[in-house]
Order: sequence, then structure tokens, then C-alpha cells
Amino acid sequence: MAKSKASTNPLMDAIVAVCKRRGFIFQSSEIYGGYNGFFDFGPLGVELKKNIKDAWWKDMVHRREDIEGLDSSIIMSPKIWVASGHVGGFSDPMVDCKVSKMRYRADQLFFAPVIVDGEKIGYVSILEDGNMQADAEAAAEKMKRKGGHQGELAPIELKDYTEADESEWALIPSPATGEPGSLTAPREFNLMFETKVGALSDSSATAYLRPETAQGIFANYKNVVDTGRVKIPFGIAQIGKAFRNEITPKNFIFRSREFEQMEIEYFISPDCDWSEIHQEWIKYCHDWLISIGLPEEMLGRDVHEKLAHYAKACTDITFQFPFGEQELWGIAARGDFDLTQHAEHSGKPMEIFDEAAKKKYIPHVIEPSLGVDRLLLALLTAAYTEDEVGGEKRTVMKFHPRIAPYKVAVLPLLKNKPELVERARAIYDKLAKRYNVFWDTAGAIGKRYRRQDEAGTPYCVTIDFETIETDGSVTLRDRDTTEQKRVSEEELYKFLDEQLF
Ligand code: GAP
Repeated sequence: MAKSKASTNPLMDAIVAVCKRRGFIFQSSEIYGGYNGFFDFGPLGVELKKNIKDAWWKDMVHRREDIEGLDSSIIMSPKIWVASGHVGGFSDPMVDCKVSKMRYRADQLFFAPVIVDGEKIGYVSILEDGNMQADAEAAAEKMKRKGGHQGELAPIELKDYTEADESEWALIPSPATGEPGSLTAPREFNLMFETKVGALSDSSATAYLRPETAQGIFANYKNVVDTGRVKIPFGIAQIGKAFRNEITPKNFIFRSREFEQMEIEYFISPDCDWSEIHQEWIKYCHDWLISIGLPEEMLGRDVHEKLAHYAKACTDITFQFPFGEQELWGIAARGDFDLTQHAEHSGKPMEIFDEAAKKKYIPHVIEPSLGVDRLLLALLTAAYTEDEVGGEKRTVMKFHPRIAPYKVAVLPLLKNKPELVERARAIYDKLAKRYNVFWDTAGAIGKRYRRQDEAGTPYCVTIDFETIETDGSVTLRDRDTTEQKRVSEEELYKFLDEQLF
């Protein structure tokens, strides 16, 4: 029986280590031993996150005439979550181990009968991962050997625990103990976090932390239509926190319990070809990911066959994370499900008058929904590079300049030479008016370059004796090539403006 293992993914381990070492991401509540599924973003992480959100907002809202922004409250009337179907159906199947008290997603716990010469000798179980087939086969071999069984082992056919029939629940070993008899029947577990609003603590006070930002958009759709000058097709965009009580948060910030979403509801006529607009959005999102530094060859598509209760179609843009190809950006065609639900439950009309078509209707919607944290992990993965410079190993985060936490570092060659420091400070002050600039005087210049490489700063500017004694030129160093060239101050500002805007 294979048990859940500690990480054996060197790339993932290296990314987590650089995030901690350089202050990108910390485990939440670390001084109390951590808190599973929650993370804190340190000085570099918060900049990275902000740059991601700013780039998305600029490209999706500011640069498009057809999209407006919104910032709705996290806690909304619980009636919204009844209408949207979340109270009734936003759940994952869960299974408990009664001995270890561990809890698993039933659709991520796999099992198979072990059959030797047509006779069932037991079961193996394994938690979902890239190697689970090989690990389950090895576990079955071991069971056969230990039991002294001769004969041919039948192929191991893994199924997930939701597919187990009742008679098998007691026979499937728990991944925690390796023994059968302790797993419960699978049951649905609602992922919404409950809270109480107001002074009462009975069920009338129950409210939810939003599990998606989308419903805040639907709930305000009428307000935006009535107060703005929007006409079909148009979108409403929102960035904000979402909360899900994930049964098994995993893979660092890939699946956490508190995360941020960047969502658009793009409202279209029910008479138009929704699948064409859906395809256009998929391409638009794909191209945007490339524009901020994700390599095209690490992106893929997953067209859903099994659809959520509200969707007419859904395609995920996937990314090659260190633990395999996984969903990064879900782009769904939701039809008029949500607005119709809210019209029925609230009693408020949700139609829009289409001036061009001279008719009234409830629009349909295309929904591109992206997790900030998940995108951040994709960007960390794509950026993480180890190479050698002058025989010395270095770790370098090759972020796109638009995303990099610091755009440029200003480094006076020596910190005990006031004339160098003064000149460098004047350049820093000028640059800091335009970008996020790092000031570093500590240690040998090579060490300072390495520090900036790990932080992902695309350019370093060094002020040395040539700057103050001869022509005023500075050294401009490129993070990725490590090439250095001398440029005048004017050339420096012009170059950075070209690269960073
Ligand atoms: N409004 C639709 C919606 O929320 P979803 O596929 O559940 O759809 C959309 O989520 C995106 O939000 C995902 O593609 C992913 O990027 C991000 N996301 C979802 N659950 C997450 C979690 N537990 N942790 C981090 N990101 C998550």
C-alpha cells in the first residue's frame, strides 16, 4: 500500500525554497506551526501580485472600451448563494479515515482490487499523483509477494473512491494507515466558509465568504446597466478575494483556501454565435498569458466534457506546473443561467434593451475566470532558472519586466565613498519617481547582482569612479544575459522607458 508522500518534486521544492528565502511567499501563521491552505505574501510577493493584477486590469479594463470595473463586497446576502446554486451544490465528495482522522477528496483517492489468478487477494489505494499507476502496481506486487501468492497478477485498474460500491468501502485501505476498515462512505462536503453576521447566532445570521467573485458581478449587473452607458456586448470585471474550504489544499498556492480571482462576465446577445465569442476569448486570454511572460509551449487547452451545473461549455487554459499539466484559467459559456436565477429569486427584472436589435432580453454570458495566486505560481515556474556565470552557479527569476517586483536596482560601487553614494542616490531618486527601484549598498558588487537575479530584477545600474571622474556614464547590467554596457544617464532613462512601459 503506497501512502501519501512528502514532496519528491525538485523543481517545486526549489521554487518553494526561493519564495521563502527571498520573501515572496510565507506559510500563514508560521510562528504557530502554519495554517494549512493559507499563505502570506512578503515584500517581493506582494509586488509580484500587484503587478499581475495591474497588468490584467490595464489590459482587460482600461484598454478595452467594452469592459467596466467593479469591486463588490465579499460577504453578500446569503440569498445570492441560494439563487446561484452554491448552497445546494457547491461541494466536493469527501471521505474520512476514522482511525487517523485524515480527510480526503473522494475523487482524488484511487483504489483497485488486487487479483491473482482470478482470485481477489485484497485492495490497494493511492492518492492522486502523476506516478499513481506505477506506485499502485508496485504495491500490488508487494501484497502478492507478502501473501505468498503464486500466479499471474491481473492488470491494476484504478478507479476513484466515488466509484467504489458499498461492499468495497470496508475493504479499501486508508492512505493514512495502510489498513482497510477505517474509511467512511463518500459524502458531499460544501466548500463555502460560513460566518455569522450581526448579533444573533441562529441560522438566520448565517452568511458565506464568497467562493467566487462572479456572483458579485451578476448581483450588480443591473446597477451597472442602469448607471453606465453600456451596450451589448459588454463586460464587467472584478478582482478580489475568494474563499473555499478545500478538503485537500495542495501544491503550495495552486489550490488554497483563500485566494484571489480576476473574473470577467462578458454579456452577449442570446441571438449571437456564443461559441465564436467563447473561442475569441480563449485566444485573447491565451495571448495575454504569453504577453506577460508564460512560454507558449507550457500552455495547453482542456475542453470540458463534464460541465458545471451552470455551463454550456468550458475550456481551461492549462499550464505545465512542476506537478503536471493543470488548469490555470477557466473560460466558461454560462448562458443566461445566473441572471435568470437572480431574476427569479429576487423578483427583479434582468433584461436589457438592445438598441441595435430593438429588443429586450436577458443576455448570455462568457466568463473568463483566472486565479491570481495560480497565475503567480505559473509565472514563478516559468521564471525559475538555474545557470552558471563565470563558473559560479546562480538562481535567476526571469520575470517579464512588466511583472518583476523591482524593475531596476541602483548600486553605488562602494558604500564608503560619499561622492559615489551621492551620485547614485540622485539617479535612484529620479528612477524611483517612475518605477519600483531597489537601493543596495551592501557587499561585493557580484553578490549584489546575484541577489537581484534571485529577486528577478531585470536591470542593475552601477555607479563607479568612471561615472564621477570621467564621462558620467554608468554600467547597465542585464539580468538574463549578465551583459554589461556603459551608457550615459540620458541613454539609461530612455532605455528603461522603452523596456519598462
Ligand atoms: N466563477 C467561476 C469559477 O470560480 P473555477 O474554475 O472554480 O470557476 C476559476 O475557478 C479559477 O480560479 C481557476 O481557474 C483557478 O485559476 C482559480 N482557483 C479556483 N479554486 C482555487 C483555489 N482553491 N486556489 C487557488 N486558485 C483557485
